[in-house]
Amino acid sequence: MPALCVNIDHIATLREARGGKEPEPLHGALICEKAGADGITFHLREDRRHIQDKDVGDLRENIRSKLNMEMAAISEMVKIAKKVKVDQATLVPEKRRELTTEGGLDVSKQKDRFKKIVKNLKSDKILVSLFIAPELNQIRASSQIGADAVEIHTGAYCNTRGREQRQELEKIKKAARFAKSLGLRVFAGHGLNYRNAKNVAAIAEIEELNIGHSVISRAVFKGLETAVKDMRRIVK
Ligand code: PXP
Repeated sequence: MPALCVNIDHIATLREARGGKEPEPLHGALICEKAGADGITFHLREDRRHIQDKDVGDLRENIRSKLNMEMAAISEMVKIAKKVKVDQATLVPEKRRELTTEGGLDVSKQKDRFKKIVKNLKSDKILVSLFIAPELNQIRASSQIGADAVEIHTGAYCNTRGREQRQELEKIKKAARFAKSLGLRVFAGHGLNYRNAKNVAAIAEIEELNIGHSVISRAVFKGLETAVKDMRRIVK
């Protein structure tokens, strides 16, 4: 069974919508750990639209499972990852106006730049994973620059149906096999939900899945009944 790391960004998104203190990402992360999550993933964005610097400190102090920081490949984030001593850094492309991470990194075009960042993070014993599309040239480049792992972008698989989706799944399988043959650890994520995660989890080479939006979405409805009953009791 692959490890399940839960991305808690959307708890922070809800908090930021009000600009207050609730709901607290750390509280959510502790529930995820108690429920069996193997790790907690968060994305500290340059624009701090959801997770804030304080959350990162709170998570580091309290999380006992793997703490995985998704981050842009920029010196500000490298400094924070090293200072906080996250267990894993996942380098992702980041554009200010995107709603969520779109596409994977183009490692093959910027090998020198990524090589320096990977080396820097690894020198502090941080496991470095690169978020890439299931493309063989990106996997080869990730291996050449010394990454520990690749996280295969599952977005295209999740956003297609039927024959096209089966083709996307084959691409992920082929990419996973190739990455493993080069000695890379293989992770996957983005867009996975309660219908489509099974096929990806079944790929033998994939040892970790990062899932956020669908888990937090389900939590809203799983918890809404109790939340209304609790409030009704108070109102009464
Ligand atoms: N993996 C990476 C690298 C991501 O950037 C994201 C989104 O933050 C995820 C996984 C989780 O995606 P989702 O929220 O669609 O499950």
